[in-house]
Amino acid sequence: MRQAGRYQKEYRDLREKVSFLELCRTPELASQVTVFAVRQLKVDAAIIFADILLILDVLGMQLRFQENHGPVFDNPVQTADAVGNLPSKDMAEELAYVGKAIAMTVDELKGVPVIGFAGAPFTVASYAIEAGPSKNFTRTKRFMYEHPEAFKQLMEILTDATIDYLKMQVKYGASCLQLFDSWVGCLSPRDYEIFVLPHMQNLFSALKETVPTIYFGTGTQGLLESMARTEAGTIGVDWRVDLDRAWKVLGPDRGIQGNLDPVILLSDRPTIKANVEEILKKADGRPGHIFNLGHGILPGTPVDNAKYLVELVHELSENQG
Ligand code: CP3
Repeated sequence: MRQAGRYQKEYRDLREKVSFLELCRTPELASQVTVFAVRQLKVDAAIIFADILLILDVLGMQLRFQENHGPVFDNPVQTADAVGNLPSKDMAEELAYVGKAIAMTVDELKGVPVIGFAGAPFTVASYAIEAGPSKNFTRTKRFMYEHPEAFKQLMEILTDATIDYLKMQVKYGASCLQLFDSWVGCLSPRDYEIFVLPHMQNLFSALKETVPTIYFGTGTQGLLESMARTEAGTIGVDWRVDLDRAWKVLGPDRGIQGNLDPVILLSDRPTIKANVEEILKKADGRPGHIFNLGHGILPGTPVDNAKYLVELVHELSENQG
């Protein structure tokens, strides 16, 4: 997760010359950093270099990345009227540059699967409403409770746009699709069922006939039963839940992705090894386990530790048969 990013010197060097958004919007460069990360780490799949927030920029919210702060929107959606005024856009066309980057990457990596992705509507809506990063999602939740109809409309707009965007990525060669619902864990199970689940069910059923799908979130221990009511093939979990417990809740037919705490990669090799072994033990050789970090790799992670992790997972999971 975030296999291409600031922990790599080569990425930082490139970022001295081009802004993050320019990097996303230039297929040759987005493909180049994706391919570099795969070759450096020797991972089994590539995730295309892009961002979950590009879709909001297309909807007119004016995305910027502020140094040491993160994403900011100059034109957020903070009133019910603002939802009604969102422009109708052809996402497949507006974000075709992501598709082009996927096609170039598929071509270059020959045989390594390329994962396409988008933000899940709740997490994307939370950025649109908060206007930037948030801890408690107070604005988002207030909007949801005070304007349930407008919130529903916003979720529908984002769901439809995301379906078009992801189908386009499949056309260009993505062989798997991941939905990032990074902040959905801030909701109670009841609110998830009311405000989020119906949209996620629509989204995954629209993607059913395309390629395998992964539904990722953090802090979702209390939401797994509900998430399992979507048609997502695999559920991505963070380190706050044990994999064997997650499988109990999700059932044996579901794939699970995860779930090493990315902070472990800031420590030493014995600590990394012990934690990887523990995860593989909990996964118990299930064919539906996709080893991954439980959230994005942190800036400052030594590249050698990331490489060691990949080697180790390959070696230990081979031994597991
Ligand atoms: O994994 C990959 O290599 C694919 C690329 C990828 C990025 N963002 C690149 C990126 C993916 C899959 C994402 C998803 C994403 N973006 C999520 C969901 C996953 C998660 O981490 O929860 C979210 C919430 C975002 C929104 C976002 N984009 C934030 C909050 C930030 C700022 C983070 C920070 O630490 O500054 C970004 C910027 C971003 N997206 C960077 C990268 C490599 C860092 C940009 C830079 O400074 O060069």
